[in-house]
Amino acid sequence: MATMITNAAILLSTLAIGFRMLSFLRQRRSARLPRARERVLIIGASSGIGRTLAQHYAALGVKGLGIVGRRADKLAEVAKECEERCVAAGTEKTEVLALAGDFAEVADMVRIRDELLAKWDGIDTIIVAAGVSALRPLLDIAQDKPGAEGIQRVVDVASLATRGNYIGPLVAAVTFIPLLESSSPSPSILLVNSLASVIPAPTRSIYASTKAASLKLYQALAIEHPHIAFTQFMPSTVEGDFRASAVDGGTARESDPNKTGLKREDVARRCLDAIDYGEKHVWMPWTMGPSHIVYWLFPRFVESRASKKYHYTPPPRPAIQQG
Ligand SMILES: NC(=O)c1ccc[n+]([C@@H]2O[C@H](COP(=O)([O-])OP(=O)(O)OC[C@H]3O[C@@H](n4cnc5c(N)ncnc54)[C@H](OP(=O)(O)O)[C@@H]3O)[C@@H](O)[C@H]2O)c1
Ligand SMILES: *[C@@H]1O[C@H](CO)[C@@H](O)[C@H](O)[C@H]1NC(C)=O
Repeated sequence: MATMITNAAILLSTLAIGFRMLSFLRQRRSARLPRARERVLIIGASSGIGRTLAQHYAALGVKGLGIVGRRADKLAEVAKECEERCVAAGTEKTEVLALAGDFAEVADMVRIRDELLAKWDGIDTIIVAAGVSALRPLLDIAQDKPGAEGIQRVVDVASLATRGNYIGPLVAAVTFIPLLESSSPSPSILLVNSLASVIPAPTRSIYASTKAASLKLYQALAIEHPHIAFTQFMPSTVEGDFRASAVDGGTARESDPNKTGLKREDVARRCLDAIDYGEKHVWMPWTMGPSHIVYWLFPRFVESRASKKYHYTPPPRPAIQQG
């Protein structure tokens, strides 16, 4: 059994590396669309991965950089960091637009789209990095309150997560795809999704299912809009403060993401490469690509690894009532 898993993993890894190498043979997008002409919008740029990506784009000297998030004060900080990066890199000055807004609000996204049209006549690159976490076992949330109230609490938490992880990406897609298609010579969209969408984990039922919804949404959109280069980016745990956004008020059980998680710098660099080489799916670390297939072949093995990572022990089963 163990050797079979290892053999399958080796075979799949070799295939994955092969495909990765093929993608490097393609012409880079930045050769067709020079950075000095590229107009970039990052949704979820006030912290974390989106913020680090904004700094990278500024250092590359893109023409325009729109940064979106709900917290205007944080966006102002990021805009300042980006301007400093530009100066340090000695690139032509990037115009940074701080655009406060909620990506699940239609009016906010329409206002931002109109502003991009007025300022830069359109957009070339859209990164959807915004999202919210949820950290508790589903039935624990229900047990906060007895009976129907507890079930209602689960529904309320799930709708907050749906708003942040599905409706937001949905509104962004519907609002920006027409502008992207009509204004860019090389339109690209990168969705910062999650490994949790393809390999389930305990304590992540609401998070994983709402992220999986937007992954499937963007995968289907990629077929409906074949001239847009879509990238689905699926990282494992990343350093930072993402767990503070938990819509269920939960706390993390796994080891400290700042010590064991992926580095934001590495994640941002991998995102930039993926867009430049037109990669459709990116797992980070890359070994998670083959691992996701191993889940379908040997689910129990991957389930036990997931329980270990999240230090999860199922609650004891209650005594069965004899009739
Ligand atoms: N950190 C991880 O371990 C990890 C692992 C896998 C995948 N991911 C995914 O990576 C993405 C970024 O995570 P991160 O680690 O960078 O987390 P983060 O530091 O919490 O950043 C999330 C960003 O999204 C923005 N945001 C959230 N809800 C929004 C809304 N309704 N409208 C507009 N902006 C909104 C936040 O800004 P405001 O609060 O100012 O609105 C913030 O800028 C998420 O989609 C997450 O699912 C993270
Ligand atoms: C991890 O680092 C972020 C800053 O990147 C900080 O805000 C957060 O509190 C840290 N988390 C832990 C658990 O130390």
